[in-house]
Amino acid sequence: MDLNSIETPALILDREKVQNNISRMESHLKSMHVSLRPHGKTAKNIDVINMFQKGRISGITVSTLKEAEYYFSNGITDIVYAVGIAPQKLDRVFRLISQGARITIILDSLAQADSAANAAQHYKTEIPVLIEIDSDGHRSGVDPDSPFLLHLGRYLDAAPYIDFMGVLTHAGESYSCSTAEEIRQMAEMERRQAVLCAERLKSAGIPCRIISVGSTPTAALSRGFQGVTEVRAGVFMFQDLVMAGLQVCSVDDIAVSVLATVIGHKKERNWIIVDAGWSALSRDRGTAAQHTDQGYGLVCGTSGQPVSGLIVSSVFQEHGVITHREGKSIILDRFPIGRRVRILPNHACATATSFDRYYVADASGTVVDEWKRINGW
Ligand SMILES: Cc1ncc(COP(=O)(O)O)c(C=O)c1O
Repeated sequence: MDLNSIETPALILDREKVQNNISRMESHLKSMHVSLRPHGKTAKNIDVINMFQKGRISGITVSTLKEAEYYFSNGITDIVYAVGIAPQKLDRVFRLISQGARITIILDSLAQADSAANAAQHYKTEIPVLIEIDSDGHRSGVDPDSPFLLHLGRYLDAAPYIDFMGVLTHAGESYSCSTAEEIRQMAEMERRQAVLCAERLKSAGIPCRIISVGSTPTAALSRGFQGVTEVRAGVFMFQDLVMAGLQVCSVDDIAVSVLATVIGHKKERNWIIVDAGWSALSRDRGTAAQHTDQGYGLVCGTSGQPVSGLIVSSVFQEHGVITHREGKSIILDRFPIGRRVRILPNHACATATSFDRYYVADASGTVVDEWKRINGW
């Protein structure tokens, strides 16, 4: 099957690029002597996870319990559910544990710790727990300098059926860095805060075996992971325009694209209109503040090569408007109605969530497989 026979919009995955991205991260972290726990939320697919070297990963990270159930049913038993636990989700977590999964949960409050301890007591089943640390003021997590860290650690350490494992942090602010050096500094801050928190816990007599850090930018550019036991990252498998803007990868490394069809022109405005709007590309504008603003996506031919200067500059639900980024005129005849283009996404995770499958292409652009995605919660 070639790309002209697929109904659009469709999500295309370049298998060789995924493999190269995975192999590059594997060898980078191997050279830094730290283990990798890939985040399964970008791919939401077992075939992608199976592209990691056997034995190199001990487990994965997930962002939904649906992913946890899916990956477990596909043979992965060691799973960190890296979104703060909602008490109502604990029954589902214990159901997975009773089936043989090792599900580690994360939390940053006494209310969550209390719910987890009560549920574990109720099921008379141990549950591994990590304290989430807010190493960069990005989102959730315990303030690394606060006395509350030790308070929470003592509570978890003493609670029956809670297997307190250590700390986890995610330097999501690395997405807002402007230079590679800034990312390196962010990576060092992420590492240092996590290690210092673990040391504070250990000095208070609370064992801390896991020190888990990671985001794609910090994983890719860090100078070292001294003291860290595992690195989590997900988007590196596909890469995207935000990562290219951060110099974490090149545009050519981006393995995922949205196949779209030209459905119209607006000659007087110099527009090409395609059938991929925000419901296919997402509204993510992650490159807006970067050196090169890529609009809602960078336009490529079906071979995957960017078409000089063309971006999706505005989106409606099912319409995308392609213009030249510098307002230069486009030879519209080169994009007749029915012509296919591939659009590289700003944020691969956000774009992929609209699709239930990947059309997997080889380097020549021939579709060789279809892989399903496990969307939803
Ligand atoms: C807790 C956590 N860990 C790891 C990651 C992976 O980061 P990235 O998507 O940059 O690879 C994320 C991404 O959102 C995350 O939320």
